[in-house]
Amino acid sequence: MRTERLGVDAESIARAAEILRSGGLVAFPTETVYGLGARADDGQAVRAIFEAKGRPAGNPLIAHVGDLEAARELAAEWPAAAELLGQAFWPGPLTLIVKRRRDRIADEVAAGGATVGIRVPAHPVARALIQAAGVPIAAPSANRSTGISPTTADHVAKSLDGRIQAIVDGGTTARGIESTIVDVSHVSHISRSLASILRPGALPAASIAALVPLRAQEGIVVAVGQRAPSPGTHARHYAPRARVALVRPESVRDEVARAAGQGARVGAIERGERTVAGAEVLPDEPMGYAAALYAALHRLEDAGCDVIIIAAVPEAPDWDAIRDRLRRASAET
Ligand code: TXA
Ligand code: MG
Repeated sequence: MRTERLGVDAESIARAAEILRSGGLVAFPTETVYGLGARADDGQAVRAIFEAKGRPAGNPLIAHVGDLEAARELAAEWPAAAELLGQAFWPGPLTLIVKRRRDRIADEVAAGGATVGIRVPAHPVARALIQAAGVPIAAPSANRSTGISPTTADHVAKSLDGRIQAIVDGGTTARGIESTIVDVSHVSHISRSLASILRPGALPAASIAALVPLRAQEGIVVAVGQRAPSPGTHARHYAPRARVALVRPESVRDEVARAAGQGARVGAIERGERTVAGAEVLPDEPMGYAAALYAALHRLEDAGCDVIIIAAVPEAPDWDAIRDRLRRASAET
């Protein structure tokens, strides 16, 4: 299949929406990462996403909609916590897990489960596309399963060219890290159960905790084979083909030298300042670091690195989402 490369002019958006309406797959920019979209009410279209990504059928997808009202329409129950969070952070990098209505979207989106993840993206191109398509769009990140998420159209093409109908090129995504996933499906004033973060992401946990009580959680990463609360939270994820080692910042130099001495092709990612020639240097603050991380991993992967040495990041809460992604990228299995 030839993958069409589209721009973001009105004609291109109309073409992308037409492909989606007819059941095709279109990659498009959101403010977090590029998504691989299909109409969420068409089981066959949604199955094509799993096939193109090589994604296990048991891992559910996020339904992207245009506004809060469209979000409520997909839910069987809409707790007060969902309303509060949706009002505060949509459009934006927040995904809410709620009990789903069975008549609005294909079972494949929910991977057969009783809940659905819903997000109202903020990116103008994503919003225009959802509006033009006129249906909820199921979209995981637009990469092959377990690979590095894409923050540019070229990253998408690298893994999905020839497997999908079109890529809408909207430039580099601003946030660079996926949405924060909050499960409010069990929350009610009767159940007394609390909202919980299934995946830390671009929206800080503190912003969420300021509005709804959150279940305290440390290290939500689970080992592969264990049943994960969110199937995509398996340890090995967001991983480049190279072996990734997380080390103390002051050890980067030695670790690079050691791996190079063993004949490996070595890349490094540092923070703030460069101590190793040729290292990728990312900003020493979490927003800038998140925006640049996946692109750096893609470059090192493209350069054919066997080993990537990464300087560990601070334990502070505003680095949570980044620590989570780095931990997964360096997981052995
Ligand atoms: O920022 C984002 O969230 C991007 C953009 C494209 O919106 N999307 C994204 O999708 O990261 P994906 O499929 O790569 O990751 C979604 C995660 C997966 O780990 C999946 O298991 C989890 O969300 N998820 C989706 N629906 C769920 C549900 N009903 N219950 C629990 N986890 C769910
Ligand atoms: Mg993903």
